[in-house]
Amino acid sequence: MNRQKIVAGNWKMNTSLKEAGALVEGIITGSKNKNAVKKIFFPPFTFLKAVTDELINTDHFFTGAQNCSEHEKGAYTGEISVGMIKSVGAKYVLVGHSERRIYFNETSAQLKNKIEQVLKNELTPIFCFGEKLEERKSGKHFETVKTQLNEVLKDFDKNKIANFILAYEPVWAIGTGETATPHQAQEMHAFVRKCIGEMFDETIASQICILYGGSCNAQNAKELFACADVDGGLIGGASLKADDFCKIVESF
Ligand code: 13P
Repeated sequence: MNRQKIVAGNWKMNTSLKEAGALVEGIITGSKNKNAVKKIFFPPFTFLKAVTDELINTDHFFTGAQNCSEHEKGAYTGEISVGMIKSVGAKYVLVGHSERRIYFNETSAQLKNKIEQVLKNELTPIFCFGEKLEERKSGKHFETVKTQLNEVLKDFDKNKIANFILAYEPVWAIGTGETATPHQAQEMHAFVRKCIGEMFDETIASQICILYGGSCNAQNAKELFACADVDGGLIGGASLKADDFCKIVESF
C-alpha cells in the first residue's frame, strides 16, 4: 500500500454539538476538491456519532476517537471501549497523545493494551510520541523517541504495523505556536522510519504513514508537508476553524 496523505484534526476538549456540526459542514464544503487527501476528525466522545453520521455520503472523510479504554468492557466507570467507538462508525483511535501521557500518567504498558484493543476491533491506531523541551535541549530527542517507539510497538505483529499511523508531536511545539522547523521535522521523521526499519523491516518502514503535529497551521503546513518523510499533519488549534483546516488540506 502506498503512503497516504492525511490531515487529521484533534479537537481535544473543544466545541459544542452545534459548533461541531458547523465545523464539519464548513470543512466538507471547503475541501470538496481535495479527494487525494484523507481527512480525519477527532471530536469529543459525546459528538463522535453525530460527526460520523454527518460524513455519510462523503468520500475521504473519517472520524476517530481521541482516546480509548485499555479494557474490553465492564466495571470501569467513565471509560469508553474500542468496541463502543467502532459501533458508532469511527475508524481510528489516537493512542499515546502527550496530553494523556502527561496529565493522565498513561504508561507505555497501558498504551500497548490500548493498541491491542484497537487491533482486536480492526480499527487503526494513530500512535503519538515526541520529546519534551528539556529532552530536545539536552540532545536526547532521538533517544527519547526511539524508547517510546520500542516500548510500545516492538511486540506487535509486523504485518499489522504497516497499517498503523504514527504521529510525531514534539511536546514543546504543541499549543505553543513554536512549530518544528521543516528540517527538524524531516530529521525526526527519517529517524522514526529508520527505527521502524530496524524493529520490523525496510518495506514496512517505507510504507508507514508518519504525521507531524505541533503548531502546524495554514501558514507553515506547506513547507512541513513538502518534507520527504512527512505524510501529513495532526492538527490541534488550527483544526477548529474550517477555513484554516481547509487551507492545511490545500497545502499538499
Ligand atoms: P496544536 O496544533 O494546537 O499545537 O496541537 C497539536 C496536537 O496536539 C494535535 O494532536
